[in-house]
Amino acid sequence: MKSFKIRHLLAVATVLGATVFSFQGCTKEHIPDPTVYFEEDVFPLIVTNCTKSGCHNAVDREQGYDFTTYNGIMTAVKAGDYKGSPLYTSLVTPFGYMPQDGDRFSDENVALIALWIEQGAANNSGNSGCNTDSVTYNKTVVGIFQGWCYACHSGNNPVGVIRLETYSQVKPYVDNGQILGTIRHDSGFLAMPDGGGKIPSCDIKQIEKWISNGAPDN
Ligand code: HEC
Repeated sequence: MKSFKIRHLLAVATVLGATVFSFQGCTKEHIPDPTVYFEEDVFPLIVTNCTKSGCHNAVDREQGYDFTTYNGIMTAVKAGDYKGSPLYTSLVTPFGYMPQDGDRFSDENVALIALWIEQGAANNSGNSGCNTDSVTYNKTVVGIFQGWCYACHSGNNPVGVIRLETYSQVKPYVDNGQILGTIRHDSGFLAMPDGGGKIPSCDIKQIEKWISNGAPDN
C-alpha cells in the first residue's frame, strides 16, 4: 500500500498528463476489459481487410485460409492464446505482415483481435440480448421504419413512389419479399437503406420474427 502511494505521488509529481496516463496503464488490471464480440467487432474487420479477391476468401484460399466464415477464421486462431494465433502474429510481425498490400491494422484493431482471442475467440454477438419475444407491428416495426426508412419512403412524394407508413402500405412489400430482401441486402434486391449500411442486426431479427409470425397488423 505504501509503495503504491509513493509510486502514485511520483507519477502525479511528474505532472505530464502522458506520464500519468501511462502510469494508469500499468494498473490496467483494475480496469475490466470490455467484451469483444465476433459478429460486431472482429468479423467486419477481417472481411473488409482480408477477404478481397486474391486473398483469404473461399475461392482464392491464399495460404489455405478462407476467412469468410467463423470456422475459417478459427483455423488461424488458438483460442485463449493470441501469441500462438497466426491471425494475430501475422498482423504484428515486423516483416511480411498482413494485410499484404494494405496498411497495418491500427494498434486499436490489433488489440481488439488479441483481446477477442484471449477472451476465448467465441462466435459471439453483442446482440444476444436482442429481444424478439414480443415483437408487434405497432410497437416494433413502425419504430424501426420511422428511424431508417421514412426519410425516403413517407410523405406525399416518397422515393420510388414507395410509402412505408401504414400497415397496408407495408404489407405488399412483405408479401413480395422485398422488405426482408432489401434490409438483409440479399442478392437480387436493392440494398436498403439506400446508400447506407445495414440497419442494426437486432432490428433485422425483429422484423424477421414479425414476418415469420405472419406479419400481423398488431
Ligand atoms: C435514402 C433514401 C432511402 C432510404 C432511407 C430507404 N430507401 Fe428504400 N428505396 C430508395 C430508392 C432510391 C429506391 C429505388 C426506387 C426506385 O425503384 O426508383 C428504394 C426502393 C425500395 C424498395 C423497392 C425495392 C425494389 O426492388 O424495387 C423497398 C422495398 C424499399 N426501398 C424498402 C426500404 C426500407 C425497408 C427502408 C428502411 C430500412 C428503406 N427502403 C430506406 C431509397 C431509400
